[in-house]
Amino acid sequence: MDYKNILAQLSKTLSPKRLEHSIGVSKTAEEMAERFGCDRVKAKLAGLLHDVAREIPVEEFLPRAQAFGIVVNDMERAEPILLHAPLAAKLAEAEFQIHDAEILQAIFLHTTGGTHMSMLDKIIYLADVIEPGRNFGGLEEIRTLAQSDLDKALLLALNQSISYILERGGLIHPATIEARNDLLLKGVH
Ligand SMILES: [Fe+2]
Ligand SMILES: [Fe+2]
Repeated sequence: MDYKNILAQLSKTLSPKRLEHSIGVSKTAEEMAERFGCDRVKAKLAGLLHDVAREIPVEEFLPRAQAFGIVVNDMERAEPILLHAPLAAKLAEAEFQIHDAEILQAIFLHTTGGTHMSMLDKIIYLADVIEPGRNFGGLEEIRTLAQSDLDKALLLALNQSISYILERGGLIHPATIEARNDLLLKGVH
């Protein structure tokens, strides 16, 4: 499906708030792709579809993930909402005929990040954090960095996310730690 058709479909299924967020992520991702020399169409589509599974009732996450053959770890069993990202990648393929592996991976990683993130993965992760509808302490610094340095912006976003979870005594997904370590090992600071 192309952007227009996907948008028409999402308008029927997502809440207005989630739809607005998804369009915001899509536009932000497209702008970032243009700035950093990534594929604009892929960025636009991945952004639009990244939260397609976000409004599935939480009790359906585990059974639907299992039905798609997604390997569920203890962390995701404890916090099934994390599964909305891998589930979105599966739905993008099954229901929206997106078969591009790069788009699907960027959707898959948008909540936790992961090791060896591609430029598209980084753009979608960051676009989700900085799209115009977002508002939280520390956001402007990430937005500013995202104008010029994708890796630095991502490191700051990951650090903020980890700090936020730590302050609340929550579980930190191993993929988020791996994403951060990966950047540090590559000399990003
Ligand atoms: Fe999400
Ligand atoms: Fe999102």
